Amino acid sequence: MSKRAGTYRAPEGLDVAADLAAKYPSLGDLGGLYASHQGAVVHKWHHYLPIYERYMARFRGSRVRMLEIGVAQGGSLELWRRWLGPDAVIFGVDIREKCARFDGDHGQVRIGSQDDPDFLARVVDEMGGVDLVLDDGSHEMAHIEASLKALFPLLSNGGVYLIEDLHSAYWTRWGGGLQAKANFFNSLRDLVDDMHHWYHDGEVTRPMVATGLAGMHIHDSFVVLDKDMVYEPIHTFVGTGDSGRAVARKASKVQKGEER
Ligand SMILES: C[S@@+](CC[C@H](N)C(=O)[O-])C[C@H]1O[C@@H](n2cnc3c(N)ncnc32)[C@H](O)[C@@H]1O
Repeated sequence: MSKRAGTYRAPEGLDVAADLAAKYPSLGDLGGLYASHQGAVVHKWHHYLPIYERYMARFRGSRVRMLEIGVAQGGSLELWRRWLGPDAVIFGVDIREKCARFDGDHGQVRIGSQDDPDFLARVVDEMGGVDLVLDDGSHEMAHIEASLKALFPLLSNGGVYLIEDLHSAYWTRWGGGLQAKANFFNSLRDLVDDMHHWYHDGEVTRPMVATGLAGMHIHDSFVVLDKDMVYEPIHTFVGTGDSGRAVARKASKVQKGEER
């Protein structure tokens, strides 16, 4: 089977609900909402639905501020509105002027490019801050990097930054490639090193993103970054038993360089 873009399309007439139920039996409301969606077209890979559930469900019913990059036909904004609830502040940005026609339907739509940090900052300012970012825009490596650099520092603590359709990282048309330096998964490697800067002498390469990078999760074509306070790591020994004290004494000596 060819592995190029455009493959993996579901067979014509696939029962979406049945496919989701068979593969992801613990999927919550989002599966049903997606499968029964009658509004504007929304296009999602099926394995993304449990990922949204896993990282976004805790925001449902709250005044969560969500920014989606990539409005297209407006369908996803409608789906998020139905799933997240009436109190959510939902904004979408898109480079295509014609997406402005969806402004006010299920969220606010602003027109501009995801690689324009000033535009993104203005939108977040208008939103009053941002708790959730979903990058479903151009999927070009340079754009993904630019948006992340601009938006991750603006994300609230406890917020989540999601990037989907990262199969584009393997496709040259999107600036990626299996061995390409710009493949976004190489950036993640840098972020892993930044996150562990406590333990090595290398430079922090992405301070704007590394500050507050509390976790990262890689799924097929999907990356999720957690934003939160990050403290200098410390470890302790607790417990009062003799063996506990012996372990603590040993650790103290190791720390002072008296023992290995
Ligand atoms: C995959 S579609 C979005 C699909 C939509 N989120 C959904 O789930 O139905 C990608 C969208 O990103 C927009 N886009 C492309 N380049 C962009 C850029 N530089 N900045 C913002 N949006 C961009 C396209 O116009 C297109 O509407």
